[in-house]
Amino acid sequence: MEAPFIFGKIATDKNFTDREQETAHLVNNFESLINTIIISPRRWGKSSLVHKAATIAQYEDKQLKICTVDLFNVKTEEQFYTVFARSVIRGTASRWNEAVENAKKFFSRLVPKISIGADPMNEVSIDFDWEEMKRNPDEILDLPERIAQSKGIKVMVCIDEFQNIAEFDDPLFFQRKLRAHWQKHQKVSYCLYGSKRHMMLEVFTDSSMPFYKFGDLFFLNKIDTDHFVPFIIERFSSTGKTISEGACKKIIALADNHPYYVQQLSQLSWLRSSSQCTEEIVIKAHESLVEQLSLLFSNLIETFTFQQVCYLHAVIAGEKAITSSETMHRYHISSATAASRSLKTLIKKDILDSKAGIVSFQDPIFEYWLRHHYYQV
Ligand SMILES: Nc1ncnc2c1ncn2[C@@H]1O[C@H](COP(=O)(O)OP(=O)(O)O)[C@@H](O)[C@H]1O
Ligand SMILES: [Mg+2]
Repeated sequence: MEAPFIFGKIATDKNFTDREQETAHLVNNFESLINTIIISPRRWGKSSLVHKAATIAQYEDKQLKICTVDLFNVKTEEQFYTVFARSVIRGTASRWNEAVENAKKFFSRLVPKISIGADPMNEVSIDFDWEEMKRNPDEILDLPERIAQSKGIKVMVCIDEFQNIAEFDDPLFFQRKLRAHWQKHQKVSYCLYGSKRHMMLEVFTDSSMPFYKFGDLFFLNKIDTDHFVPFIIERFSSTGKTISEGACKKIIALADNHPYYVQQLSQLSWLRSSSQCTEEIVIKAHESLVEQLSLLFSNLIETFTFQQVCYLHAVIAGEKAITSSETMHRYHISSATAASRSLKTLIKKDILDSKAGIVSFQDPIFEYWLRHHYYQV
C-alpha cells in the first residue's frame, strides 16, 4: 500500500492542506499581474503554494501563462539566462513545436541551439553561446514581454530559490540589470520567492537596493494545528487506518508545525501502525527520525566554530540574556561581540531565526537532537 504522505516534493491535491487565504491572495496577484515576493524558511511550502496558485490562476484566466524558473543549482549569471529563457519559452507555448518556433522567432541577435529528444514535450533543450549572451542579455530579459505582446497574453514569471542570485559574481550589478528591464514590462510580472530570509529581506526592503519596493511582499507561515489535525486523520483513513486526535497533535507538536516534518513524521507513524496509530507509535517514529538524521546533524555541528557551539548551547538552555556576564561565563562565550557574531552567522546559515528579538531554531528535529543527544540539557 502506498503511504498517503509526501515530503520533499511539491504538495498537490490531497497532499496539500490549508493556505486558503494565501492561495486566494496569490491567485489574485497572478491574475492582476502584481509583482510578488514570498519569504519563508525552506520546506515551509513556498513552491507548493506557488504551484497551486499558478494552476488555479491559469485555469481561471485563459490569457495568463505562468512560467516557473527554478534557480536550485543555478550558481552563475550564464546559467540564469539559460534556465530563464528555457522556462519562458516552454511556459508560454502550448505545444513543443510552438516552443521551437518561438525559440527561433523571438531572438534576433542571439542564436539559440535547439535539440529535440525522443520525448519532445520534455526534451526540447535550448542553449545559447555565453559570449553572445553576455553581449545581449536584453534579448533574454525582455523575452517574456516580447512574447506576451506578440501573442496578446499575460505572463507571470515565478522564480524559485531566488536567493541564489546572491552567489553570482556581481549580484548588485545583476539585480540592477534585472530591475531596469523588468520595470518596463507591461504584460509581464514576477513572483520571486526564496528561503534565505536575511538575504531576501536585504534585497527587497533595503532602500539602497535595486529591488527595493519591487512588489507585494509576504511571509509564509507554518501550518496551524487546527488545519493539520483533520488533514492527518483524513490521510490515514484514506488507507483504512485510523489515528487518534491526541496522536495527531503529538505529531504536529514534535514537528513544531513544520510542514515538511509533519508529513515525514506522519509517514513514519503510518508505516509503524497496522491499523490504529497511537501516541506511543508517534513517539517511537519520532525517535527513529532523530536517529535517522543524527549523522547529518553530527556532520553539521562539526562545521560550527567553538563560539557558535557555545552560543547554541545557551539558546538550547533557554537563556534570555545571553550577553549578561554570568551567562557568557557559564557557556564559555568570550564576549558580547563574539555572541552577536555567532548569532549573525547562525542566522545566515539558516540554523536560527530571529523575529522581533526572539531567537528560534529553524529545524525542530535538529533542535531536539541538540537538546537531548548533543548537549543533553
Ligand atoms: N499546503 C501544504 N499542505 C501539506 N503539506 C505541505 C504543504 N506545503 C508544504 N507541505 C510539505 O512541506 C514540504 C516542502 O514544501 P515545499 O513547497 O517544497 O517548500 P519550500 O518551497 O518552502 O521549500 C512538502 O513536500 C510537503 O511535505
Ligand atoms: Mg521550494
